[in-house]
Amino acid sequence: MLDNKGFDLWAREYDKSVEKSSNEYPFDGYYDVLNYIYNSIINKESKKILDVGFGTGLLTSKLYEDGAKIFGIDFSQAMIDIAKEKMPDGLFIQSDFNLGIPSELAHEKFDYIISSYAIHHLNNDKKVEFISKLKDLLSEDGKIIIADVAFKTEGNLIECKSKNLNKWDEDEIYMIEEKIIPSLYKNNVNAKYTQISSCAGVLEVD
Ligand SMILES: C[S@@+](CC[C@H](N)C(=O)[O-])C[C@H]1O[C@@H](n2cnc3c(N)ncnc32)[C@H](O)[C@@H]1O
Repeated sequence: MLDNKGFDLWAREYDKSVEKSSNEYPFDGYYDVLNYIYNSIINKESKKILDVGFGTGLLTSKLYEDGAKIFGIDFSQAMIDIAKEKMPDGLFIQSDFNLGIPSELAHEKFDYIISSYAIHHLNNDKKVEFISKLKDLLSEDGKIIIADVAFKTEGNLIECKSKNLNKWDEDEIYMIEEKIIPSLYKNNVNAKYTQISSCAGVLEVD
C-alpha cells in the first residue's frame, strides 16, 4: 500500500497514468465515475464541497472552475501542491484520514462530501466508522458521494481478481455492496450503491 511518500512520487505522473489505464483494472471507467459525481453536483445551487483524498484535483478542479468552494484532505504534500496550482482558493489540509476528521473541519458543514479512489485504504469497519463521522459534517440537504474500485458482490470481486492476477493489489480493501450497505445500515446510515464499470462503483449517502 502506498504511503504519503509513495503518492508524492506518483503525483506529477498521476493524471497521465490514469488516462493510459482508464479501460482496465483498477481504473476501468475512471472518467465515467468522475462524470457521475460531477453531474450529481453541477446543477445544484449550494456547492461547498469536501474532497477526501483529492489527489491532483482532476475532479474538484472542474467543480472549482464552476464556482464551488473546495475543501480537501490528503496526506500527500506533492498532491496538495498540484491541487493548489489548479485551485488557488481551495482550502487543503494535509492529514491522514486513518486518524479521522482533522480538527480544522470539526465545525464545518458541507453540501457535498466526495471521494474518489481513496478509501480502499480503510477496511470495511473503518470505512463504516469514517463514513458515519463524515455524515456529521453534512449540511441539512447534504450528500456523500464515494467512488472507488468496488463490486456488487464478493463473487464479482473474485471474478475481477482472476482476470487481473498480475496487477491485483492485495493491500487494497475494496467496497462490496452486499457487505457495506448492511454494515452502514446497522450504524443508522442509509446508502445506495451503483456499479459504473467492471471494477468501479459509487456509494451515495444522504
Ligand atoms: C489514487 S489517488 C485518487 C486521487 C483522486 N481522488 C482521483 O480520483 O484521481 C488517492 C489519493 O488519496 C490520498 N490518500 C490515500 N490514503 C490516504 C490517507 N490515509 N489519508 C489521506 N489521503 C490519502 C493519496 O495521497 C492520493 O492523493
